[in-house]
Parts: sequence; C-alpha cells; structure tokens
Amino acid sequence: MVKVITYGTFDLFHEGHYRLLKRAKALGDYLIVGVTTETFDKARGKLNVIDSLMTRIENVKKTGFADEIIIEESVGQKFSDIKKYHVDIFTVGSDWVGKFDYLKEYCQVVYLERTKDISSTMLREKKRHIQRFGVIGTGRIAGRFMSEARNVSGVEIQSVYNPHPASAIRFAEEWDLNAYRTLEEFYKNIDVVYIASPHETHYDYIKDALNHGKHVICEKPMVLEKKQAEEVFALAKERNLIVFEGIKTAYCPGFHKLLGVACSGRIGVLKNIEACFTKLENPQHRELVDTKYGGSFLELASYVLLPVLKLFGTDFEDVRFETIDGDNGLDLFTKTSLRYPNGNLATVTCGLGVKAEGRLLIAGTLGYIVVGAPWWKTSYFEVHYEDPNKVEKYTESYLDFGLRYEISDFLSRLNGGEKDFCLTRGESICLAGLMERFMQEHRGGQT
Ligand code: CTP
Repeated sequence: MVKVITYGTFDLFHEGHYRLLKRAKALGDYLIVGVTTETFDKARGKLNVIDSLMTRIENVKKTGFADEIIIEESVGQKFSDIKKYHVDIFTVGSDWVGKFDYLKEYCQVVYLERTKDISSTMLREKKRHIQRFGVIGTGRIAGRFMSEARNVSGVEIQSVYNPHPASAIRFAEEWDLNAYRTLEEFYKNIDVVYIASPHETHYDYIKDALNHGKHVICEKPMVLEKKQAEEVFALAKERNLIVFEGIKTAYCPGFHKLLGVACSGRIGVLKNIEACFTKLENPQHRELVDTKYGGSFLELASYVLLPVLKLFGTDFEDVRFETIDGDNGLDLFTKTSLRYPNGNLATVTCGLGVKAEGRLLIAGTLGYIVVGAPWWKTSYFEVHYEDPNKVEKYTESYLDFGLRYEISDFLSRLNGGEKDFCLTRGESICLAGLMERFMQEHRGGQT
C-alpha cells in the first residue's frame, strides 16, 4: 500500500484545494491530510484564517479523498508524521517547490502544479470588507502599529489625527496617510479608530469615536477609572460597536500557550504569581516628567497585572501598593500585592527608574512555570518540578513588534468571530479600577 501525506490550512475551501487533494490521492492508495490548527497558523504569521478548524476538517472530509485526517500543530511535525505513519510520498502544491526537499531523505517528495488564479487569501479579501483605520496619536507605539498592521490582511490605515498639526503631518508623510486638523474630518471614510495618545486623553477620544459610529482599539491603560471603563463598554454595546484594549501580550500565541499549560493542572493548583517588568526611561521623557499621568504603574502595570487577572481572576480581596518615588513624587518603582479569598497571592513589580529582573513566575502545588524577560513577548517558557532534572520547555513564535496578533483578534471580533477571550471586558474594567485606586493613593485622589 502506498501512503501519501499532504498538509494545508484549507481555509474557505476552494477548487485549488479540491484538485490538489484529488491528485494527491491518485499518487497512492491511502491519503493522510494534515490540517493546521489556529494556534499554529497564528504562530507562523498566517493571520485572519476565517474558518474554524472543525469547518476546515469537515470540508476536507467532504471531498471523500482523505482516508485519514490529522491536525498539524507544530513546526517539525511533518518529519515525525512521515516516520509515524510510514509515509511513502509527501506532496504539496508547487508554491512550495524546494521548501520540503529536506524530507527527500525519508520519502518521495512531489510538488503538484498549483491551480491558477485561486487562493484562500484571494477569497478572504473578497469576502471581507476592508476595515479602514484612522490613528489618533503619533508617538513610537503608533509607528509600530502602522508597520504591524501591514502584516494583517483586511486592514487599511488611511488617516491620522493629532491636535498638533505638525506632528500629524510628519506622521502622515512617513506612512503615506492623510492628516486632518479636526476630528470631524478625520472620522470621514474610516471604520475604526486606533488611539495611541497620552493615557489621560483616551476616555474622551473613545467616547467621541463611539458617538461617531466608529469601533475603537485603544492602547493600555484604556482608561483610568472603573466607571469610565464601564461607561465606554456600555456605550459601545448600545451602538453595536467594539471597544478593545490593546495590551499586546494578551493576544500573542506564546502567552496563550503559557496560560493553557498553567491551567492544565500540570503544576497542580496555582497558588502564587510574581511578575516583573522594568524599562529604564529617560528622565526627560513624559513618563518620568508628567507628575499626574506618568510613573511606572500607569505605564507598565497593565502588563504585569495581566497574568494575575487571567489566572486568578478579578475578584481579589485586597490590593496594596508600595512605591519608590523620584524627587518629583512620581513612582520610579512600584510593587503591587494582591490577595485572593482562596489564599492565593500575587506580587507584581514595575519600574521606570529601577532595573530588576523581568521575570514571570507561576507557582503551583506540583511545580512552577518560569518565563524570563521579555516574558511580555512570550516566546519561550519552562516548567519545573521538585525533581530538578525534570524540565519541560515550550517555544512559540513572536513576530516583530507583536501587535499583529491583537489587530488580527480585533478583526476577527469585528467579523463576528471569537468572543473577548484574550482580554475580557471584565478584565479591562478591573485594570481601570486598579489604575484608579493607585492614583487615589498616590496622586491625592486625582484622576
Ligand atoms: N493549493 C493549490 N492550488 C491553489 C491553492 C492551494 O494547489 N490555487 C494547494 C497548496 O499548494 C497546498 C494546499 O492546496 O498544497 C493547501 O493550501 P493552503 O495554504 O491551505 O491554500 P491557499 O489557498 O494557498 O491559502 P493561502 O492563500 O491562505 O496561502
């Protein structure tokens, strides 16, 4: 019996896929088809796959050519599948010519002529309304967002607004956008507003954008008061729009894998979390000069609190802040301790003027997970146990600035896909509440 294997995403199943599977089956007696998982596709930069894994499997099954369907979830799996299933022929479309020659040592490799003028990418473009984005704010993060958005199909950034016209014009020239002097003009011809302005301006911009019928992605911290967060989510719901807080870590595949392992029971019952993120900032910069809205907590706490809220939830019973302040009273270094009703503890640390080891440690009753810096761009982590010789290692890709994952998640929500699993509204509201509480205790109640 001649065994053949082939792999693909098979999104929006089309004639090219059908013809490939038909010819693959004709190469032998038994055809195995590997269908990629969502996580694997995300990790290799294939974003915006529309059909779920189940639908894609179903469509492959319907052709009647596959004798067996398996899922493909990691790089290097092809090699092990070939051994495991005693495969004689590996085949794939001619768009991959040469890429799989390394498998020739183990089986025959056949590249089948690709069907012309059809691909999932083409169908996705046709099916999807392109979302036109406008950017408010022109700082470093806005530039990163621009370059990342280019990797996500279905997004077109058209406009920029900054109350300082010179900054808007400079940014528009750099990224080939239209710069506007008024928000009214800026809103014309866009569907989504990305807000990357100073923290304290987010709330007003979000409300204004929603009131003009625009969806919103807003940089963290989205707002600085709990009731503001509740209000913007309620307004969005009322207007059938989406408001989305951009904490890049929440959407990246490595962090998801980490949460999955932490929740799997592998390290027993979770008991303690420690997370640290420090970034030495130039003392002349806004973050260390703006005595009202600067400081390490407002700048970095969204990251360090994220694993705690994801794993322990938002119902802590006590939170305490301790800071090391600079001469102008701004927190250069902040330690936040949270206690949960079940006894769980978390300590999260952030710093702009004190350097510490940026590490994430999740401790359970059977072992612990440790992620070194930069854990907020999770690409590698280890699981340790009482036996020091037993260490499990996990890797996942994290591409460039990593904002493409949140943009892609946002688009899939606009298209009615996944619910707010990566960062829930409740988690965003809780984060806003913590910002408020910190400001009450450290800025004399001002928000
Ligand atoms: N394929 C083909 N002819 C096409 C499109 C795909 O023969 N017109 C083959 C690919 O070469 C691969 C298999 O079908 O062997 C599954 O490919 P997949 O990546 O799922 O399909 P694409 O349409 O190429 O998807 P995308 O546009 O997302 O890359």
